[in-house]
Amino acid sequence: MIVRPAAGAAALYSPRVRARHFRCDHLGHTFAGDRGHVMALDDISLDVDVNEFVCIVGPSGCGKSTLLRIVAGLESPTVGRVEFEGEEIGHRVRGGLVVQEHGTFPWLSAVDNVAFGLKLEGVPVPERRARAMEYLERVGLSAFAQHYPHELSVGMRQRVGIGRAMVVNTPLLLMDEPFGALDAQTRRRMQSELLGIWAADRRTVLFVTHDIEEAVLLGDRVIVMSGRPGHILANIPVPCARPRNIRHLGDEARAIVDDVWRLLDAPSGRISP
Ligand SMILES: Nc1ncnc2c1ncn2[C@@H]1O[C@H](COP(=O)(O)OP(=O)(O)OP(=O)(O)O)[C@@H](O)[C@H]1O
Ligand SMILES: [Mg+2]
Repeated sequence: MIVRPAAGAAALYSPRVRARHFRCDHLGHTFAGDRGHVMALDDISLDVDVNEFVCIVGPSGCGKSTLLRIVAGLESPTVGRVEFEGEEIGHRVRGGLVVQEHGTFPWLSAVDNVAFGLKLEGVPVPERRARAMEYLERVGLSAFAQHYPHELSVGMRQRVGIGRAMVVNTPLLLMDEPFGALDAQTRRRMQSELLGIWAADRRTVLFVTHDIEEAVLLGDRVIVMSGRPGHILANIPVPCARPRNIRHLGDEARAIVDDVWRLLDAPSGRISP
C-alpha cells in the first residue's frame, strides 16, 4: 500500500508551528584508534524543528553517519553537545534509526524484525503483529513476512530496516542512506511512502543521502557538509510546495540541486581520502 496524500492533502501539509526538536551545539568528534586520531566532525551547529524534514548531503567519509549516531545517542561527541528540547541526551537511543547497512537481525524473520521495537515497548503480541504486518506491506514485503534476512535481497533487507524504524512511534526518525541499495523504481516508491507517512504522523526526520535530487525532493532543508572533518558548508531551505511531484523536479528545485552540486564541487567540498 502506498500512502499517497490526495484529497485533503492540503490539510496534511498545513503550515507548522515552529518548535525546536533538538539542537546540535558546536559538535565535534574525533575517533581515537590504533591508527591514530581521525577528526570526523568539526564545529557542527544545527537546529532542527519539530516535524521538520532535514536532509544531509556531503562527500563520503565526511562524518554524516557519525553525526546521525551522535544525534541518536549511540556515540558521545568529543566536543559540544546535543540538546533535546533543552535537555542533554545521555546514552539512550533517541528516535527510530535506519542504519546504512546490516540493519536487520539475521535470527529474526522479516515480521519479527519489524516488530522488534514494539516488543521492547511492551506492545501486546496481536497488536505488535498487526502493526508489523501493516508496515511490511508499506515497504512492499508482506509476502516475505516469514523469510529471514539471508533469504532476502540487499534492497529487501534495507526495506525491512526501514519498516522497523518507522513502525515505532518515535517522534524522531534518523535515516542513514535508507534507500541506497534500492533500484530506481523501488526507491521512488519508498520516497513516496516516506513522504506520506511523514505528512500523516508529523515526525521529525533527519535523512542522510548521497542523492542530491532525493535530498531536494524530500527535504524542507538541505544541509551540505564539507569533506572531512565535516563541517556545515550551507544550510539551504527548499521552499517548494507540498505535496511534491516525486516524478518531476520543477525549476526551483532544479536550481537548488545545481547550487548543492556547485558547493560540493568547490575545493572545500573535496572527497575525503
Ligand atoms: N569507529 C571508528 N573508528 C575510527 N574512525 C572512524 C570510525 N567510524 C568512522 N570513522 C572515520 O570517521 C570518518 C567519518 O566516517 P562516517 O562513517 O561518519 O562518514 P560518512 O560521511 O557517513 O561516509 P559515507 O558517506 O561513506 O557513509 C571517516 O574518516 C571514518 O574513517
Ligand atoms: Mg555513512
